Amino acid sequence: MEDKKIIIAIDGHSSTGKSTVAKQLAKALGYVYVDTGAMYRAITLHAMRKAIIGPLHFEKDKLEGVLPEINIRFEVNPKTGVAEVLLNDKNVEREIRTLEVSKYVSKIAAISSVRKKLVEQQNEMGKDKGIVMDGRDIGTVVFPNAELKLFMTATAKDRAERRYLELKERGEEVTYEDVLKNVVNRDHIDSTRKDSPLRKASDAIKIDNSNLTLQDQFEQILVLAKNAIKNA
Ligand code: DC
Repeated sequence: MEDKKIIIAIDGHSSTGKSTVAKQLAKALGYVYVDTGAMYRAITLHAMRKAIIGPLHFEKDKLEGVLPEINIRFEVNPKTGVAEVLLNDKNVEREIRTLEVSKYVSKIAAISSVRKKLVEQQNEMGKDKGIVMDGRDIGTVVFPNAELKLFMTATAKDRAERRYLELKERGEEVTYEDVLKNVVNRDHIDSTRKDSPLRKASDAIKIDNSNLTLQDQFEQILVLAKNAIKNA
């Protein structure tokens, strides 16, 4: 008999490597991977391009006005096999990963109408199950009945170090202090916002990966996923 398909929800703090493990897991199980942070980032990029948000201003009403014209979807990159995000049919996978987008994204993600639009789309993506979705509210709001929920965390210092190296590797001119500030600031906004704040679902398994290698972490999580599939 074919294995039953499940929903795997991965939440946690910024830069905890959620997407890395989610991608590994989706590949190993033949599941679809959805990076919901990319969806919030794409809307942020649109707002930046339309000068709706900037260092000193944020026109929330204007953003709500343009929301209906923003189309976010994913398309698999045939070279990597990983889904990349499209903003109004243009691939923005690279542009959404800058520190500048990271600086504004938590403000955009705190807007209820933005969350409503994206959560509806995420629910639709998971209707056939067989999905690994990562974000901040997947186990609490998007899929409260997910068969497996993980909550990833690590110290802010460890997370900022990893993120700093990643951004440098991509050629961004950033300082470690700036990255650390962004990580701490985003945690704060994401955890204290009114709508769907970042928190661990009571039935989520907490994984602190400060001292885990990627391989160890993946092996542990794969065992959890296989058990959840067996018990589904
Ligand atoms: O996972 P990420 O760092 O790419 O996410 C970017 C931001 O988007 C994060 O700071 C909070 C927000 N986010 C959210 O509010 N809900 C989600 N499901 C995913 C991301």
